[in-house]
Amino acid sequence: MAKDSATLPPFFNIDPDAAMADLDGPATSSDFAEIAEACARGRADLASRGLNEEGGKTLRQFSTWEITRYLIPVAVAHFRRVLKANPDLPQGRSETEGGAKWFTLDEVLRLRGHFAAQGAKSKNYLPYRPKGLPAKIVAVANFKGGVGKTSTAAHLAMSAALDGYKVLVIDLDSQGSMTSIFGGRIEDEWQTAFPLLARHYGEALRAENRARAGRGEAPQPLDETLSAALEMSAADVIRPTHWPNIDLIGAQLNLYWAEFQIPVWRMGLRSCKLWDALADRLAADRVLAQYDLVFIDTPPALGYLTINGLAAADILLVPLGASFLEFDSTGRFFDMLHSTFASIEDGENIAARALGRPETMFEWDAVRAVITRYDGAQQGELAALMQAYLGRTLSPHRQDFTALIGQAGEQVNGIYEADYRDFNRETYARGRETFDATYAAFKRLLLGIWRREEQALNEGNARSE
Ligand SMILES: Nc1ncnc2c1ncn2[C@@H]1O[C@H](COP(=O)(O)OP(=O)(O)O)[C@@H](O)[C@H]1O
Ligand SMILES: [Mg+2]
Repeated sequence: MAKDSATLPPFFNIDPDAAMADLDGPATSSDFAEIAEACARGRADLASRGLNEEGGKTLRQFSTWEITRYLIPVAVAHFRRVLKANPDLPQGRSETEGGAKWFTLDEVLRLRGHFAAQGAKSKNYLPYRPKGLPAKIVAVANFKGGVGKTSTAAHLAMSAALDGYKVLVIDLDSQGSMTSIFGGRIEDEWQTAFPLLARHYGEALRAENRARAGRGEAPQPLDETLSAALEMSAADVIRPTHWPNIDLIGAQLNLYWAEFQIPVWRMGLRSCKLWDALADRLAADRVLAQYDLVFIDTPPALGYLTINGLAAADILLVPLGASFLEFDSTGRFFDMLHSTFASIEDGENIAARALGRPETMFEWDAVRAVITRYDGAQQGELAALMQAYLGRTLSPHRQDFTALIGQAGEQVNGIYEADYRDFNRETYARGRETFDATYAAFKRLLLGIWRREEQALNEGNARSE
């Protein structure tokens, strides 16, 4: 008898009376408030453990080993010689007498500048960046949640920063994961991308009112929100992070409000291109001249925020796992992208043709699906099949599943913020290799695109001379 019940599946022989005794009363909407409050207290507790006394995150330091292995690839002895010969350069600090030297990222960037100026030209110490061209905007999107959008965007932003690029991260997901990763504390929608979208509409409404005045018609009212937004620019919502060369436009739950507000605006002024609001404001506020790369993290939905992110992007990355369900839903995501953007083009172009204006056509420098959380032992066949069907659209690089992401702990996010001494060196090296390879595949795409543009620019200049 006892043996029998021990081998029964756990869902047999549940006693309804005992089950009833476990229950609380029915849940009401006010219970949600209590649960939310408990979560908020727990979250604040967790978050406070990752924060220093001033309440901000700090970036760890980088050791000579890590610098010469990953960031400024020279022999350790040579690195030490150069530092010794140049006492003005950062010399690092050691935790113990004669122990390893550690440097801040700012110091690493200065050292890299020195090696680039003095060292072998063949080494590419500084990443390629054509002059006179704007920052490239990269959107990471997929309709599905949990596919690795935020992890991919955050790791790419950090890799690019370690590589020496100046990076802006824009979080369009009201869940704010990317914002937490970069230590942003956002109070309300006024500290997110929302005022930029509102200003775009406010400007369009102002222009419309000038036209109305010309026709002797009454103006449409500018409400308080729009009047406030008209005073704001990107600089008001861009904040520094604990990374010296990464800035952030953060997100917070209220940003979700934009999904309801934008369609209301659109009803009020059909001519306003609300899908273009973010791109328009980034250009108007000259943001692209201040950075090398802009990474946009998007919510798992194809709403107005995602559409704005995608419309602003030059490069679109679509992460997905090598599973049937994710392949299937990603196919549907591309189908939705097609119908969404084709219908915007159609809508715009009927009017444009009638007025003899240039037609709207969306164009991206590159679109790449990226396999994330890849398990070669289990998913090789499915990944090969996906590759066969998607061809060049699927990046040949597969981002391996790595336990390092989950293990990095509550204070740090991702591999680049983790201290390698907390891990077995082998595990660390393998985990880091995965994301270095993700960055390498992305950088190859980026450099190809920048070179193509640089050549077109030079040819254009040559022709006009
Ligand atoms: N390469 C990876 N290896 C292991 N876990 C990963 C990897 N990439 C992402 N994850 C984990 O998968 C989960 C979902 O990732 P996330 O980036 O938040 O997805 P999304 O932004 O698409 O919702 C997270 O718990 C994250 O830590
Ligand atoms: Mg996410």
